[in-house]
Amino acid sequence: MKISVLGVGYLGAVHAASMAEIGHEVIGLDIDAARIAALAAGDAPFHEPGFPELLRRGLDSGRLRFTTDYAELAEVDVHFLGLGTPQRADGFGADLTAVHAAVDALAAVLPARDGAPTLVVGKSTVPAGTARDLATRLSALPGVSLLWNPEFLREGFAVQDTLAPDRLVYGVADPGTDAAAAEVALLDAVYAPILAAGMPRLVMGYEAAELVKVSANAFLATKISFINAISELCEATGADVTDVARAIGLDDRIGPKFLRAGVGFGGGCLPKDIRAFIASAEDLGVGPALGFLREVDAVNQRRRVRMVEIAREMLGSLAGRRITVLGAAFKPDSDDVRDSPALEVASRLLAAGAQVTITDPEALANATRRVEGLIAEPDTAQALRGAELVLLLTEWREYRDLEPSEAARLVAAPRIIDGRTVLDLPAWRAAGWDVRALGRGTARPGAGGAAAAEPELEPARLPAHA
Ligand code: UGA
Repeated sequence: MKISVLGVGYLGAVHAASMAEIGHEVIGLDIDAARIAALAAGDAPFHEPGFPELLRRGLDSGRLRFTTDYAELAEVDVHFLGLGTPQRADGFGADLTAVHAAVDALAAVLPARDGAPTLVVGKSTVPAGTARDLATRLSALPGVSLLWNPEFLREGFAVQDTLAPDRLVYGVADPGTDAAAAEVALLDAVYAPILAAGMPRLVMGYEAAELVKVSANAFLATKISFINAISELCEATGADVTDVARAIGLDDRIGPKFLRAGVGFGGGCLPKDIRAFIASAEDLGVGPALGFLREVDAVNQRRRVRMVEIAREMLGSLAGRRITVLGAAFKPDSDDVRDSPALEVASRLLAAGAQVTITDPEALANATRRVEGLIAEPDTAQALRGAELVLLLTEWREYRDLEPSEAARLVAAPRIIDGRTVLDLPAWRAAGWDVRALGRGTARPGAGGAAAAEPELEPARLPAHA
């Protein structure tokens, strides 16, 4: 089938290459000419395992190409909307400018189809009500209909999540009607190889489909903040949060996933999605329903501040101290630093006068573009050399696998804070390290004393939320 993907950011680029992989003829469109040129040349503009190979196969097959010109979309049967919906600059709500601009530009070329059935499929994360508005906008065009098909891919697993998702959700204007059945059949034809693998596919109204996406992300964020709130209790009582998480996770109604305590969630999705969800509930007149998400956000922000407090407890004062931060990306296997907890903590340490060296296997360039003043060091051993304190903030395999006695030989003083609850604390202590970890008994507030004297400073330049 002839397919287009409008917006080839993270989601759109992976979706476009995946659709070519399953046999479709795909055009990826973006207004960012540099990004289009890179993709057309086979250069992945972000780090995502498996994506460079997928992109290369698509380009070599001749089934995948990229353009900035909407006029090239006139022959296309199914258009996917993969535009970003970042947090608005003036509040919590989602900024839908890119989605509206793309739909307007697309609507201008669709009359050339002369009424041939054309499906527009929304994949962007949007507030409930957006799809119905867009459908009304498109209803003036004969043959054109809209289906909402939210995306659940995780960075680091984007290819796998696109080609083998755990469910497909289709939102239609009016489930059960002939019109809806025709739209569903068209999208089923696109996803035929994926559906053939037995993937559950759920058809529902637009608003439910929009809510599925934001509810899923809000639930995941809540689960993380829940265990991080328990972390605070652990720090106050001397308990170990990993014991609590392991034990409650064995209850299969709760489950073990997304119960890893630490410096919390970041990235281009969870933080902005819960805020957009709060704003959307308020717009709908049901603000109190999602009031708890403000607390989820607050718990998450407090963990970042707590990391800096523990650093101050361990060093006495931060000014002029040499601190090494392991990790800049918001999670491993990604070069994405959007709202990265690691980068925010590094930025706060910098603002408190510390001399901060940061290292990351993939995200260093993005990190130093966002925060000025960090010393970027790609080599882990080199980054550790001379450190008075080390903070592990993104759990890349190579940091989890650090050998404590070898690392001790590199630093100036063997002090480490595990911000991702991944280190074997007894092994590190046995190698002579003074170890603190969020939520693991040893991080009691006030321990070390000197912290209270130095007020918490605002970070110099925080990573933007989107
Ligand atoms: C998230 C969702 O997991 C995807 O299902 C969704 O499609 C995507 O957002 C999106 O809306 O596009 P992603 O942002 O790639 O995916 O990252 P996650 O794997 O969800 O991790 C988010 C953050 O939570 C990371 O900073 C991670 O370090 C943190 N996290 C995760 C924890 O702190 N503890 C955990 O136990 C799990």
